Amino acid sequence: MALKSLFTLATAFALLAVLAEAHSWADCVDWRFNDPAKPGWTDKHGKCHGWARQYPVNSGVRFGGLDSSSPNRHYQQDPDDFIPCSDKNHGNEPGADETRQNPISRAYGGRFGSMASVKAGDSICVRWPAKNHAVKNEQDRGVFINMPPTPTTRDPNQSQLTKMNIAKLKYKNCNQISGDSDHTPCGGCFKIPDNRVAGTYMVQWRWELNDDEWYTSCWDLQVTAKNPPVQPGQPGESVARPLSGSTSIFAELAED
Ligand SMILES: *[C@@H]1O[C@H](CO)[C@@H](O)[C@H](O)[C@H]1NC(C)=O
Repeated sequence: MALKSLFTLATAFALLAVLAEAHSWADCVDWRFNDPAKPGWTDKHGKCHGWARQYPVNSGVRFGGLDSSSPNRHYQQDPDDFIPCSDKNHGNEPGADETRQNPISRAYGGRFGSMASVKAGDSICVRWPAKNHAVKNEQDRGVFINMPPTPTTRDPNQSQLTKMNIAKLKYKNCNQISGDSDHTPCGGCFKIPDNRVAGTYMVQWRWELNDDEWYTSCWDLQVTAKNPPVQPGQPGESVARPLSGSTSIFAELAED
């Protein structure tokens, strides 16, 4: 009997440890604010338009709860290999499968979420659950957003991705929920560089919790071209031209 209560107590403590040690992942990778003047991460503030690879959108699990699913959504990289995206086998915490699909569209739609999209030069936002790590006594080492300069046919490896950093976000940028530091929603926005050509890019969310303790989420991002700048002297230009002299480029061409 005493042994049994001891066992129950040990189980309870183990469970507590698991709860306290829960880790994060990118819950939404194309979060759009209802009112850009009032940015935020609760369901009142916005809506998700894009998800990570093979993200189970119809799971019925509440926001921030997928770490209790099987498999866990969070993926902790193994410092021996630093595989960029979970393959559900490797890692200190293997997490859920986020390997690149062929074709890429196989990771989206149906029971999975839709693919994120953005125009080059525009901003895009990512949301994640705090999982008890957005509290005062924890250091914010940040979330790194890594994205190749051009679309790639394979995912880069981690050392390549690390060099492809385009943004660093504050992990603790959250709408704190009083009494629930676990399910508190957090997020950040970053700009897609202007010079990205249209195409499908892989993007990595990489959160450093402690030294060499990294969690990642991976997704594919459909980038459309930035509105091309109109060249002076071409049809459609918006630059004002003097009324005197040639009034149209066609007249100029005709004079030659
Ligand atoms: C990553 O890829 C680059 C280029 O192919 C290669 O030189 C490098 O050794 C790779 N690094 C790791 C850790 O695999």
